[in-house]
Amino acid sequence: VRKEVLNPVVKLMDIEAPRVAKSAKPGQFVIIRIYDKGERIPLTIADYDPEKGTVTIVFQEVGKSTKLLGTLNEGDYILDFVGPLGNTMEVPKDAKKILGVGGGVGIPALYPKLKMLHQEGYKVEAILGGRSEEYVIFKKEMEAVCDKVHYATDDGTLGKKGFVTDVLKEVLENDKEVDYVITVGPVIMMKNVCKMTKEYNIPTIVSMNPLMVDGTGMCGACRIEVGGETKFVCMDGPIFDGHLVNFDLAMTRLNMFKKQEKVSLELYEQ
Ligand code: FES
Repeated sequence: VRKEVLNPVVKLMDIEAPRVAKSAKPGQFVIIRIYDKGERIPLTIADYDPEKGTVTIVFQEVGKSTKLLGTLNEGDYILDFVGPLGNTMEVPKDAKKILGVGGGVGIPALYPKLKMLHQEGYKVEAILGGRSEEYVIFKKEMEAVCDKVHYATDDGTLGKKGFVTDVLKEVLENDKEVDYVITVGPVIMMKNVCKMTKEYNIPTIVSMNPLMVDGTGMCGACRIEVGGETKFVCMDGPIFDGHLVNFDLAMTRLNMFKKQEKVSLELYEQ
C-alpha cells in the first residue's frame, strides 16, 4: 500500500497483511516469496500497525530477489507473506539505560524494539551508523523514540567519522548508566559491538539474519552456533545472546552461495 525509496539501494514498503500486523512483536520477522519459483527472503519487521493492518518492511537491493521486490509498486501483490516468525526480546525489568546499536538495514530492524522499550518507560539511547548520511536511515523515527541518538559515518557526513564501535567506546566510557545493549546490523558490526560490550561486561542481544529456506525448523539452512550448540535462527531466534554467538561461522555460512547469487543476478540483469 505504500512504497518509499529511502536511499539509492534501500526501499520501504507497507504491506497489507492484517493477520501478521495483529500478532507481530518487536524482533520478529517475515519470509516473503514474490512468485511461485521465487527465493524466500527473510526480512525483519520494521514496524506494524494492527489498526491499519499493515506491516512495514525495509530491504536493501543486493541480489536478484531483492531487486525484483524493488520493482513492485503500490497496488501490486506479493505471493507469500508468512509471519510473524521467530522469538521476541526480553529485557531485564530493572535495566537502567538501554543502548541500541544499528547499522545499515539493521536500523529499521532495531527500531520496533527501541520503540517498545521507550513506550514501556525505559531510558533508551541509540548509536546509528552507515557509509554516509544518506545511508543512515530511520533517523526521524529513531529520534522520536530515543532520549539521545549518536551517529557515526565512514565519511564523517553525519556524526563522528568512523565506526559505530568508536562511538560505542566513548559512550561506555562516559555513561556508566548503560547496562543493556541491543545491536542489529551487518554481522561484522555485531561481532565488534559484542566484543566491546563483553569487555565492559554489559549483556548484549543481537538479531541474526542468515540464509533461510522454510523458516519452520526443517531445512537447517539458518543454523548458527551459540554457546557451542547448533541453533536454528528461524525457530530459536532471531534474537540471541551476542556474547555466545559464533560470528565467524555465521559470516562463512552467509557467504556460501555468493557465486550462485552472482550468476543469478547477472542472468536477471541481462
Ligand atoms: Fe530452515 Fe530455519 S530456515 S530450519
